[in-house]
Amino acid sequence: MSKALFGAAAFNEKLVNEPGSRSRLETPAAVLDLDLFEHNVALMARTCRDAGLNLRPHAKSHKCAEIARRQIAAGALGICCAKPGELLALFEGGVRDLLLSAPIASSTKIDSLARAAAAGGRIGVVVDRADLAAAYAEAARRHATTLDVLVDLDVGLKRSGVATPAEATELAKLVSGLDGLRYRGVQAYQGRVQHIDDFAARRAANREMGRLLASMLDALRAAGFQPEVVSGGGTGSHLLDGEDRLLTEIQAGSYVFMDEAYGSVDMHGRGGPEFKPALRIAVTVIGHSSLGFAITDGGSKSFALDGPPPRVFLGDEQVGRIEWCGDEFGRILPADGRGPPSIGSVVECTVPHCDPTINLHDVLHVVRGQELVALWHVEARGRAD
Ligand SMILES: Cc1ncc(COP(=O)(O)O)c(C=O)c1O
Repeated sequence: MSKALFGAAAFNEKLVNEPGSRSRLETPAAVLDLDLFEHNVALMARTCRDAGLNLRPHAKSHKCAEIARRQIAAGALGICCAKPGELLALFEGGVRDLLLSAPIASSTKIDSLARAAAAGGRIGVVVDRADLAAAYAEAARRHATTLDVLVDLDVGLKRSGVATPAEATELAKLVSGLDGLRYRGVQAYQGRVQHIDDFAARRAANREMGRLLASMLDALRAAGFQPEVVSGGGTGSHLLDGEDRLLTEIQAGSYVFMDEAYGSVDMHGRGGPEFKPALRIAVTVIGHSSLGFAITDGGSKSFALDGPPPRVFLGDEQVGRIEWCGDEFGRILPADGRGPPSIGSVVECTVPHCDPTINLHDVLHVVRGQELVALWHVEARGRAD
């Protein structure tokens, strides 16, 4: 890899292709199991293809150009980003078809997106206000380029997007009439549906969202603004999103890594191929207590803890769970009947929530079996701007 490496990753680079290197990593280190990752990427690509849906994975979950490239190579038509900084980091990393999935309110950022389009990117944006559409159009014209535009619809998340068919139609009309913009359709991200654990309840919630979306699509069609793109969906809803034929593309993100927050979501309701936990955080056991627990070198600066607690693995065996005990430290509560792992051992922990966890790491340590095989930069790490 070309960029400079610091800290643990700089030491770990020397271990690439060394047999058994996975258990000798300097830690804390984000570890990506390549077999599981490839399974996840292929499974989502196949599922969307079979359902007749396009796939535009969300990079907010991984922030890594190499992963985006692999998703595209597997059939994704482009990538979503949550923030301009995330998008620009991936653009600099060589990813060319990018959709910013949230509205913004900064002329500097609007200008930088138009500049990326002028530099060869196929840049898509969403708008939920007339002044934002006008500002994008103005920036696109200034840079002699064109931005693809989706009208952002609020289908129940209550975060961004217009909330009524009349507003959607009015905005589509405005966008269609502005030089510098290409009206492509709508975004309808139903975030509230994704983490409903029960399959039937999730399907019911998705259908309810679908009714709202259908009323907006009907109004747009009746007014002559047939959306070519209807973008939304996520890991939790992806199997349901083909049912009512409303969405044309799926924005799933977490499926590449999976996390404990998705662990309780019954993806199928009937069983079927599942996404696998491909991302783990390797930590080292640095202490034992006579009270029976072990202490590791990774706390809330290594994992985002807004999810169920990490499970701890030594090789393939689950040896306990992590309990938070500080910014830099974790407490392993050993599984029933087990003692704590020995001091110095490198254990791997599942992640409570993958998106904010990857934002804590510069580098992914990519492993195949027990061997470290590559380091991938997380280019958009820290790009919450
Ligand atoms: C707009 C948007 N699309 C897609 C996703 C991806 O969702 P998931 O990680 O559940 O697949 C998110 C996640 O927050 C999102 O905000």
